This record gives sequence, C-alpha cells and structure tokens, in this order.
Amino acid sequence: MKSTSMPRLSASRSPERRPPAITARGLAKSYGDKVVLDGIDLHIPEGTVFALLGPNGAGKTTTVQILSTLIPASAGQARVAGRDLVREADAVRAAIGVTGQFSAVDNLFNARENLLLMADLHHRSRREGRRRADELLQRFELTEAAARPVATFSGGMRRKLDLAMTLVGDPRLIFLDEPTTGLDPRSRRTMWEIIRSLVAEDGVTVFLTTQYLEEADQLADRIAVLDHGKLVAEGTADELKQQIPGSHIRLKLADADRLASAAALFTSAARDDEALTLHIPGDGGIPALRAVLDTLDRASVEAEALTVHTPDLDEVFLTLTGRPPQSGVTANSLEKSAR
Ligand SMILES: Nc1ncnc2c1ncn2[C@@H]1O[C@H](COP(=O)(O)OP(=O)(O)O)[C@@H](O)[C@H]1O
Ligand SMILES: [Mg+2]
Repeated sequence: MKSTSMPRLSASRSPERRPPAITARGLAKSYGDKVVLDGIDLHIPEGTVFALLGPNGAGKTTTVQILSTLIPASAGQARVAGRDLVREADAVRAAIGVTGQFSAVDNLFNARENLLLMADLHHRSRREGRRRADELLQRFELTEAAARPVATFSGGMRRKLDLAMTLVGDPRLIFLDEPTTGLDPRSRRTMWEIIRSLVAEDGVTVFLTTQYLEEADQLADRIAVLDHGKLVAEGTADELKQQIPGSHIRLKLADADRLASAAALFTSAARDDEALTLHIPGDGGIPALRAVLDTLDRASVEAEALTVHTPDLDEVFLTLTGRPPQSGVTANSLEKSAR
C-alpha cells in the first residue's frame, strides 16, 4: 500500500461538468493485417490530466498520432478541442501542442534559438517571440543554459526545452508522449511539477502516455489502461485499484475477546489470532467502510485501528493484462534502486 502525498488535482473541481477536450468513438488503426488500435472510446473533460497507460507496443504513440492529426485513423470518429478531427484538422492543429516521445529539439541551435524558431513558426512578431522565449526559459529554469548548444543538454533539460517549445503556441490541449521515459528520478519529479503547473496555472488539458504506473497515479485525474490496442480498464487510480481482488479492510482489536466478538460479526473475514486482526474482503470504498463501522457500532465492538488495503497499480496491471508492467520495472522501483 502506498500513500499519496500530493493533493489530487481534481479534488476541488468537478471535471464531469466541463465540456470535453477529447471524445473518441471506435478509433481503430491497422497497418495491413496488423491491428494496432482495436476500437477505443475516450471522453476527456477540459482542464484535466488523462493518462494512457500501457507497455511498449500497446498503441500509445499511435493514439497520440491519430488524435493530433499526424496520421489518419482506419475507423472511428473523434472530436479534439471541440473540432472534428478529420473535417476540421487545421483548427485541431491550431489548438493543440504535441511533445513527442523523441525530441524535436534541433541540436544545431541553442535553447533560445530553438524557441525563437518555434515562435516564427507560430507567426509571432520578433518582439513577441523574444518575450515568450525568455518567459519560457525562465519558467523552465533554462535561462542560464539558454545560449549553450542543445547538444550539451542532459535528458531532463532536453525534455523541458521540448515542452517549452510546445508551449510557444499557447495550446489549450497538450499531448505528452512518454514525457519522463529515460529520465532520472529527480528530472522525473521536476517534469511532474511542470505538468501539474500546466493544468493548475494555465488551465490546459493534458493527454499523456506512460509506461509508469506511478506516473499515472501521481498525475492523472483519469487513467485508461491500453493493452494490445484495446482499453482494458478506465477510471481514477483508486477506482482501478478497487476493481481487482485483494482489497480488504483490516481491523485491529485490542484483545482476544474483542477479536472473537468482531469475528462473529464478519463471517467472511480472515482472522489472525496472533496479530489480533481481521481482514474483511471488500472494495475499500466508502460504502464498504461505513458498513463495517456500522456493524461494529451496532454490536458495540470497539476496534483499535482500521486500515484499508488497496492493491497498488502494479497489481492492477498484472491482473488486467496478465503480465507485469514493463518487465516489472516501474517508476517506483526505479526510484528505490536509485536511492
Ligand atoms: N507505421 C507502422 N507500420 C506498422 N506497424 C506499426 C507502425 N507504427 C506502429 N506500428 C506497430 O503498432 C504497435 C503499437 O505501436 P505504438 O503505438 O508505437 O506503441 P507504444 O507507443 O504504446 O509503444 C507496435 O506493434 C508497432 O510495431
Ligand atoms: Mg510510444
């Protein structure tokens, strides 16, 4: 069980009421006989973070390429930023920013020149371009490195510059394809902070793909799990964790008598006489929790402690796809090994 120290971005908002940034129905993509995307549906409200989680080859980049008009779908419809993906492709392009899995940064230029080039592409005036470039360099803490050849940048600096370049066009919706893959834990944390600030301060919608369960858990309002071109699950991190067996409520009793009284109330529970605990199977949700507390109350049995065990996303992934994520390597375990 892990604790979430960061406040949820969605805590104070009700994303369901917002207009959708992306809706898709039956999106599919095949290359010859090879089915890469097998009919996926999406509904992503504005101002939220959506994570498409899946192992290598699941179809994440393909989904981003389709939704950002880079490649056509073989079937299905989608609306992105309020526009039809096919009939209004230009309007979609004007509203979005895409940061690809592989850097679009030009090594021959320095960071500032890269940003100015981008401003040019967006038809900004010289002056406005310079203002925006300097603002972004400052925001991403790249001001000191601005005049250095980009070839000398670390992976983390390069990703930041990549994202800064995307922001030059003031997109309302940003696609981030594996924004932290290959980064060290510290750069990953910095990137997470930046992504959070995009939503909190700029109000943009973020569609990100990741192989890291921890990343989806940390950032996303909603997560969809993609496996072999199909969405195998969708929900908040907590909802996904509750979907799979293994959730239970653990009651700790003060003594053997109280344990016996409690055990009589919850006949499906597993009992540990030594630890004085009961493990009551359940989804770990509030109604289940309330039912347990009510039952204890009615029988006047006092519990010393109550904890909810929900499986972590590694277990979720394993259950949904039948195999561990990315050969068992998650952001979490990477960070542990880096310490
Ligand atoms: N242009 C292409 N032609 C044939 N197969 C492709 C093409 N692009 C991607 N694929 C295949 O589609 C599958 C999904 O790829 P991709 O969307 O890049 O996955 P992910 O980003 O989740 O790793 C992979 O098996 C990949 O080999
Ligand atoms: Mg990819």
